[in-house]
Amino acid sequence: MTNRPSVVVSGTGSYLPAGILTNDDLSQMVETSDEWIVTRTGIRERRIASADETTADMGFVASREAIAAAGLKPEDIDLLIVGTITPDMLFPSTACMLQARLGLRQIPAFDVEAACSGFLYTIDIARAMLQAGTIKHALVVGAEKLSSIVDWTDRSTCVLFGDGAGAVVLSRSDEPGIGMIDSILGSDGNGGDILHMPGGGAALPATEDSVRARQHFLKMNGREVFKIAVRVMEKAILEILEKQGLAPDDVSLFVPHQANIRILEMLATRMKLPLDRFALNIDRLGNTSAASIPIVLDEAFREGRIESGDLVVLVAFGAGLTWGATLIRWQ
Ligand code: ACO
Repeated sequence: MTNRPSVVVSGTGSYLPAGILTNDDLSQMVETSDEWIVTRTGIRERRIASADETTADMGFVASREAIAAAGLKPEDIDLLIVGTITPDMLFPSTACMLQARLGLRQIPAFDVEAACSGFLYTIDIARAMLQAGTIKHALVVGAEKLSSIVDWTDRSTCVLFGDGAGAVVLSRSDEPGIGMIDSILGSDGNGGDILHMPGGGAALPATEDSVRARQHFLKMNGREVFKIAVRVMEKAILEILEKQGLAPDDVSLFVPHQANIRILEMLATRMKLPLDRFALNIDRLGNTSAASIPIVLDEAFREGRIESGDLVVLVAFGAGLTWGATLIRWQ
């Protein structure tokens, strides 16, 4: 990425719905317990959007915050990309809804669907478009209402997920060597069935039977996800650091997708790093898929855990299968 303009994170924002669903609440709904959930996942509670609160609603608030944090106005934004697997509807895109609601100019706006890796895919597309063209500022949003696709009768999945939104503004900068230094993205569609939602697309449109068979909910083989997630995230981190001649110890903060604390503990152990080098909020928010990295990044930045000059690695793994890692030198 040398000889190209730098792309920096010029503002961050996030939004969490007010509703809190605790493990004790869940134990009233399915056969589970606070002890089981905390031990297996590290999750204590998650946020759940209200019935009339949508993915676009949450993305809207996070976006406004990120634009303000960047010191910009809506009319300064040249590109909008939303990462989500729970768009308000299949079309128009959630990005187009946000373009109108935020009062952005008639700029390119589109959604990207890469599940839990969605935010890393979107920021890399935005980075490439910022570096290739004449545009200056991109708004990138990760927003999810996973509660709308979770099967609340399936204890093996419903304890894991939550709702929320995060956003960043990425801006072109003439200062060399700062911002998004490198990025790795990958996929393996052969693993698609370990985490998927069968119904609602062209292969299985909604019918009375598909609804009755609960095909419009997320399905997951948790054990397989677990094993692959640790391996793939470790590989992505090591690969991106090696490309830059860096070691895990050079990184000030790892900002991982928040899937399961045990996945992250294992990752930290394998890389011989203390867990406090990882930004974490899984205990409060559970897994919010494409929203998880921008939310935890916003929190870490606002808590003063990221300073100018710090090396930060974002890393994710998700349905698809998809994965990615992004190396940032904070401006
Ligand atoms: N409460 C109580 N018991 C449960 C629950 C629950 N919520 N869920 C499953 N169990 C039971 C199972 O029925 C099973 O019982 P059995 O032995 O009588 O059959 C037992 O617990 C063990 O089930 P496992 O699925 O083997 O439990 P495991 O220790 O693997 O934990 C978990 C399950 C937490 C889902 C784990 O596999 C995991 O975290 N995997 C990663 C999944 C993940 O993070 N997905 C996020 C989405 S993907 C992404 O974000 C990248």
